[in-house]
Amino acid sequence: MKLCVIGGGSTYTPELLGGLAEKKAEIPIKEVVLLDIDKERLRDVGEFAVRMMANIAPEIEISYTLDRNKALQDADFVITQIRVGHQIARHDDSLFCIQNGVIGQETTGAAGFAKAMRTIPVLLDYAKDMEKLCPNAWLINFTNPSGIVTEALIRFGWEKTIGLCNAPIGMQKGVAHQLGVETLDVQLDYVGLNHLGWVRKVAVKGEDRTKEVLENLSPYNATNIPELDYDPVFYHALGAYLNGYLRYYYLEEEMLEHLKREPKTRAQVVMEVEEELLSYYRDKLNNTKPEALSKRGGAYYSHVALSLISAIYNDKNEVHIVNTLNKGALLDLSEDAAIETPAVINKTGAHPLVAGHVDLSFRGLLQHVKAYEQLTVEAAVNSSYNKALLALCNHPLVHSAKKAKKLLDFFIERHGLELN
Ligand code: G6P
Repeated sequence: MKLCVIGGGSTYTPELLGGLAEKKAEIPIKEVVLLDIDKERLRDVGEFAVRMMANIAPEIEISYTLDRNKALQDADFVITQIRVGHQIARHDDSLFCIQNGVIGQETTGAAGFAKAMRTIPVLLDYAKDMEKLCPNAWLINFTNPSGIVTEALIRFGWEKTIGLCNAPIGMQKGVAHQLGVETLDVQLDYVGLNHLGWVRKVAVKGEDRTKEVLENLSPYNATNIPELDYDPVFYHALGAYLNGYLRYYYLEEEMLEHLKREPKTRAQVVMEVEEELLSYYRDKLNNTKPEALSKRGGAYYSHVALSLISAIYNDKNEVHIVNTLNKGALLDLSEDAAIETPAVINKTGAHPLVAGHVDLSFRGLLQHVKAYEQLTVEAAVNSSYNKALLALCNHPLVHSAKKAKKLLDFFIERHGLELN
């Protein structure tokens, strides 16, 4: 089997390859091709990847290339992990948002809109090449904003796409740790979208442990920044264990103040971590996964990706939390909306578990965010200025049509977006 990694020059790549080496008995991938457009990065990460795999899994052939035809030709699985515009685009977007009093987080905030707008056309272009070069491949999308990008790919580019995020496995592992049980024994009744998830029930081998989990989470998601912790009364009232990104909605003011006070944007912090990682990769004496990778977000990402590939390849009928089209599982959203949901995974793909209706206490937010996301997909696919403006006006964290226009005009100028 052949795996192609689009964005193979990412500093994350060694993490992915480490996971592949661990799962090599389950997934007979013999060839991995790292594809990138950044020659130097690809060389630094690629050469390191070759050394690392020679050390831990010499039977897997690793190569790297700038040639997309060569990389995609006959691939069985394709992973996308690209960042159009690099971290500097993330920095500029989030800073401009903050300066205008808007949360600029690159998935959940208004900067997520900009990232989606510059990313979707690029990925749809790769999908066109895949039709010719690897028509049967599965595409595993990690590119953020993962939910929006996955919806665009499935509806307008590559039906065999499954979107991933490491947040749900992080939540599952958190609960397992708290209860002293195995991660695989924990089932989360997770409903919502990527970075907008509510866990309505936590079960361990089928037994409902939700109450206990919520009681012992106090103060929930402790951050050492008191105003960023929920009052436990709040999540007890909701009765749900919350994806951390919900804080941008439920504590919007506090988060905005916090972001304003931060001396650096997250992009600047990540750039520093990446410099450290790249200089480690460049050192020809190094051939093991660096410690510094843990300073980068995305914990367990290789585990999530490779478990998913194994479930597809081995037709496991295992439940994984993934991003896929709703298809009627969640009654409060349209059938064609991508949702983040537990789904049965087998060789025919992802089949979401029935979720029914969600509680009125969070239904509005869910539908509001989905409206913004679907408008964003339409804006990107049709290169439409009006749709883009409506998308930003519908973003629950933007609040003003004037501000939406100001942000949009900045994003267009900064990223050279061509909208009609
Ligand atoms: C979390 C999020 C991902 C994100 C990752 C890295 O795991 O769920 O969506 O890509 O962190 O974030 P960073 O801020 O390090 O780029």
